Amino acid sequence: HRDLIAIGDLERHEILYLLAEAERYVAFNRQAAKHSDSLSGLTIINAFFENSTRTLLSFEIAGKRLGADVVNMHAAQSSVKKGETLIDTAMTLNAMRADAIVIRHGSSGATGLIAGKVDCPVLNAGDGQHEHPTQALLDALALRHVLRARGQEAEDFTGLKVTICGDILHSRVARSNILCLQALGASVRLCAPPALMPSGIARMEVETFTRFDDALAGADVVMMLRLQNERMDGQFIPSPREYRHLYGMTKERLALAGDDAIVMHPGPMNRGVEIDSDIADLKGRSIITQQVEMGVAIRMACLDILTRKARGISGWGEGEWV
Ligand code: CP
Repeated sequence: HRDLIAIGDLERHEILYLLAEAERYVAFNRQAAKHSDSLSGLTIINAFFENSTRTLLSFEIAGKRLGADVVNMHAAQSSVKKGETLIDTAMTLNAMRADAIVIRHGSSGATGLIAGKVDCPVLNAGDGQHEHPTQALLDALALRHVLRARGQEAEDFTGLKVTICGDILHSRVARSNILCLQALGASVRLCAPPALMPSGIARMEVETFTRFDDALAGADVVMMLRLQNERMDGQFIPSPREYRHLYGMTKERLALAGDDAIVMHPGPMNRGVEIDSDIADLKGRSIITQQVEMGVAIRMACLDILTRKARGISGWGEGEWV
C-alpha cells in the first residue's frame, strides 16, 4: 500500500493529481445531499495523540461522506495513558483490521514509523515539527480556487511570491507548505524572530527575513502562523503585545504587501497576536474559511485514492503514484 506521510515524498505530478481529484469533492460538498458509498464497508481510524479541531473533524467528515465507518481514538482517553507505547497502540488498531489509519502525533517521524508496521495506508495528520501534508494540499487548493475566481489560470503557482511569517522553527505546516508551493512553482520567503528560524533552512532554497516589513514587499500571498508555545518548554517568547508589534498582520502591514495580496492562516488563530481580527475577517483578502472548506475535499481525495488498491480500483498506484 501507499501512505501519505510527507509532501517531500510526492512528485509534482502527484500533487497536481491529488488537487485535481479534490476539485471533484469541492463541488460534491456544495450539494445539499453529500453522501457517497464509495468507501462503504471500510473502517477508518483517526488516532490523535495531540489536540485538533479542523484536521480531526474534517477527516471524520471526509470518511463519513464517502460512506466509511469512522472511529476516533483520542489519546487522552485511551490506554496510552496507562503506558501503552505508540507501536503497541498502532498494532492494536491494525489487529482490528482498519483499512486506513490517520495519525497525529507530537513526535517528528512517528507516522512514518507506524506506516512501516501496519497493513493499511497511514495518513499523516501532523507529526511533531516534521510535516502536515494534507494542510499544505488544502492550502494549495484554496489558493488555486481564489486565484481562479480572480480570473487567473492557476494550474500551478509559477511566479507567485508567498511569504510565510511566524514560528517557522516549530511549524510542520511551514515545512509542508514550502515543499508544496515550491513544487508548484512559487517562490517562498520566510519571516520569523531569529530564535524561531530553523538553522539550515537556507537548504530549502527560501529567502529568509527577520523584519516582517521587508518580507512583505511585493508578496502575493501572506501565510501567518501562530507561536507554538506548547513546543517551547517555557523558553523565549515575547509578550503577545510585543509579538504583534514586530510580526503581527495588521491593516498597515497588509498595505505593504502586493496589491490584493491574499492572507492565509492554517488555524487555530490567536487574534490580536499574529493576526488582527479586521484582517482575519477581511472579505476578498483573507481566505481562512475557504482553507477549512478545502480541507474536507482534500481529505476525501486522500482517503479515496489511498484505499483504491484495497478496493481493487486501478488508476492510481500504476503510473500515477508509484
Ligand atoms: N490547521 C490545523 O491543523 O488545525 P487543527 O490543529 O485544529 O487540526
